[in-house]
Amino acid sequence: MQPSESPSKDRPSTAPALAVGIPAILILAVLPFLRVGDGTSIPKLSLFLGRFHPTLLHLPVALLLLALLLELVRLPGLRRVVPSFPSTVLDSVLWLAALTGFATALAGWLLSHEGGYDAGLLDQHLWSGVATGIGAFACVLVRSFAKMRPDQAVLHRLGPALVVGTCGTMLVAAHFGGSLTHGEGYLTEYAPTPIRLLAGLPIPRDRSRERLTPIAEREAFDGVALRIFENHCTACHNPGKLKGNLKLDTYEGVLAGGQSGPVVRAGDPGSSELLKRVHLPLEDKAHMPPKGKTPLTDDEMAVLAWWIEAGVPKSGTLKARNAPVEIRVAFSRTLPEGERRVVEELQNRQASEYEATLKGLRASVPGSLRAILPGERDLEYTAAIAGTSFGDAELQKLGSVGGDLLWLDLSRTGVTDAGLKVLAKMPKLERLDLRGTAVGDDGVRALASLSNLQTLSLYGTWVTDAGLESLRGLPSLRRVYVGGTKVTEPGRDALRKARPQLLMTP
Ligand code: HEC
Repeated sequence: MQPSESPSKDRPSTAPALAVGIPAILILAVLPFLRVGDGTSIPKLSLFLGRFHPTLLHLPVALLLLALLLELVRLPGLRRVVPSFPSTVLDSVLWLAALTGFATALAGWLLSHEGGYDAGLLDQHLWSGVATGIGAFACVLVRSFAKMRPDQAVLHRLGPALVVGTCGTMLVAAHFGGSLTHGEGYLTEYAPTPIRLLAGLPIPRDRSRERLTPIAEREAFDGVALRIFENHCTACHNPGKLKGNLKLDTYEGVLAGGQSGPVVRAGDPGSSELLKRVHLPLEDKAHMPPKGKTPLTDDEMAVLAWWIEAGVPKSGTLKARNAPVEIRVAFSRTLPEGERRVVEELQNRQASEYEATLKGLRASVPGSLRAILPGERDLEYTAAIAGTSFGDAELQKLGSVGGDLLWLDLSRTGVTDAGLKVLAKMPKLERLDLRGTAVGDDGVRALASLSNLQTLSLYGTWVTDAGLESLRGLPSLRRVYVGGTKVTEPGRDALRKARPQLLMTP
């Protein structure tokens, strides 16, 4: 027995340690192989108990670390500084650590049935957690053996070593547990550059200035596409990791492609391997990012698809590259909440003067006129609540901001063919809804110069085959609604033949 330890007053006995420790170790060892429930349903009670795992685990963590500290202050050098304590203190701490550890492991095992965790990580966490629990009981057992055999020096040295080992295992378990709940890389997310270099992690570029840049002013690759790669891909596709022999941390890397060739084809998102991979079903092995990682949102996929379709530009801002407003909106939704708010505020401030113009217009035109993206100049007008109180005169007034109108909903208003002439002043128009108006062929002919028009609804108008024919030349038109018009089947066929990609509904 070590000199600082006062002999226990009770007669030392290994009986309690053996009676509790051995069954507990056996139970812990088989836990990873057992499942509750019938595979399709899990008893609610087990999930209820399982949810205590994240709370309970603080007890064994604190107690094991305390045991480690108690071992530490018994070291020869420190023994003189810290007042000595009876060895039963350490016994009690280890007993409590083992018992709370057992409860924690049981709760964790129950919680694992909830599903939705990365299978690999879960396995690693389960095994290291179980090992920690077993380690704590082993500490208790070894100490009680050592008390029985004061002459066995090996046992006395084994005790502290086991405490150190168990604490080490516990740190490993805690790391996997943290990765399970916060995602891998949680610990290193804000690591300083030297530590990132040591760990072979990619060095993120400094985006502090960019965070104060309006969306439209951001660089198409550096500020937008790369940002998405950095959030989801570069952890595995960087010069240090090179999974699939692919680097996604630089423009050159993306263009160079991976082990099976190019991953992006300029102008052709559909046949770009990179985009195919992110669109695959989640359970597909080839899905990127791999299972267990946060998949791309629809917004992120839309932004990447646009970047490829735009010809994988290396430089130029979203504005310079004519990114449609939907894409800018989608990108703004991928930003962290805080950054999005700052950008919106900034854009709002810049736009306050413009806002005054809009205000004046709003006062004289019924319906709703607003910026599609807060603070930007791309406008949307909806006559939905205005009805026939909105006519040609009101449309004329909208002409004053015509250059900024992208989405124009004139459905069920009183506009006529004559009034639509002003649309020639709205070259950015992407969506136009003329549903239920008295518009006819002359009105449709007035759309001839709208080279950005993508969607057009003529539902229930007076348009005939002749009007439909004049749509052939609209280069961006993708969808047109012609139900309830005077258009005939041969008329539709003619347009279909001229523009096979055009969607005509119904
Ligand atoms: C956890 C690591 C990991 C992350 C994160 C990850 N990948 Fe991968 N990626 C791999 C591995 C491993 C391979 C090689 C196996 C394969 O081809 O499926 C690979 C291969 C690829 C390939 C095929 C390269 C070739 O030429 O065969 C593409 C494309 C790809 N990844 C794109 C992405 C994109 C885009 C993202 C982000 C949205 C991403 N990856 C995120 C691990 C990762």
